[in-house]
Amino acid sequence: MSDTLVLGSPPWPEPVDPLRKGPRNQLLRSPEARVHPVFLERWSPRSFIPEPIPPKELRSLFEAARWAPSANNVQPWLFLYAQRSEDRQRFLEGLHPRNRAWAARAPVLAYLLARTHLPGPEGTGPVPNPNARFDAGAAWMALALQARFLGLSTHAMGGLERPGVYSILGVSPEEFEILVGIAIGRSGDWDALPPDLAAREHPSSRKPLSAIYQEGPLGSAGTG
Ligand SMILES: Cc1cc2nc3c(=O)[nH]c(=O)nc-3n(C[C@H](O)[C@H](O)[C@H](O)COP(=O)(O)O)c2cc1C
Repeated sequence: MSDTLVLGSPPWPEPVDPLRKGPRNQLLRSPEARVHPVFLERWSPRSFIPEPIPPKELRSLFEAARWAPSANNVQPWLFLYAQRSEDRQRFLEGLHPRNRAWAARAPVLAYLLARTHLPGPEGTGPVPNPNARFDAGAAWMALALQARFLGLSTHAMGGLERPGVYSILGVSPEEFEILVGIAIGRSGDWDALPPDLAAREHPSSRKPLSAIYQEGPLGSAGTG
């Protein structure tokens, strides 16, 4: 496996920001240690081809999410998705207008919900599950990676129309927290987007590896 992955022929514009040029520019994602290419190939486009996703592929995404780990295996996630045009229109209204502008072309819109409470001991009410959001995040990542294996792209959106999105989805905030919307589909051409979004339509870089982990407690002379 090569250490630098060239992400195929770039569907994004040539670099406009000189800071992004160089070995970590927008055409390449360069890992600092060996990783499976799927981690580099997953990125969040805003340009989608509005063609339907076969039900078999959709099922496969949720199946991947199903196998995510969770505290006490409670699996607190729930995905609600819309592909039929009437449902999609409704789901679209749950997004912040800035996201709605581009997500409208994604053939599938989904929301990831976390069931925030667990049944309490006998005779008591539900108790908060402190791990619910963490676990749901793991399920999202499983879905996002499986999407890449199928040649699909995903884009998570925390920008939602709150609190209206709860009634759109028919869920109660006492039972669920709506974490993100997710646009799913095949990524399209960057120039199908308005110019401001087209300029941002490329895989992003990351902090250096040394900035995100170290050996030993913070402040000790760890070696990464
Ligand atoms: C929890 C979460 C919320 C996000 N919310 C938005 C959003 O509201 N709108 C948007 O365009 N992108 C959103 N993103 C996408 C991030 O901006 C993107 O994942 C990040 O810049 C890294 O880029 P990459 O996913 O292409 O690697 C969100 C991502 C996550 C994980």
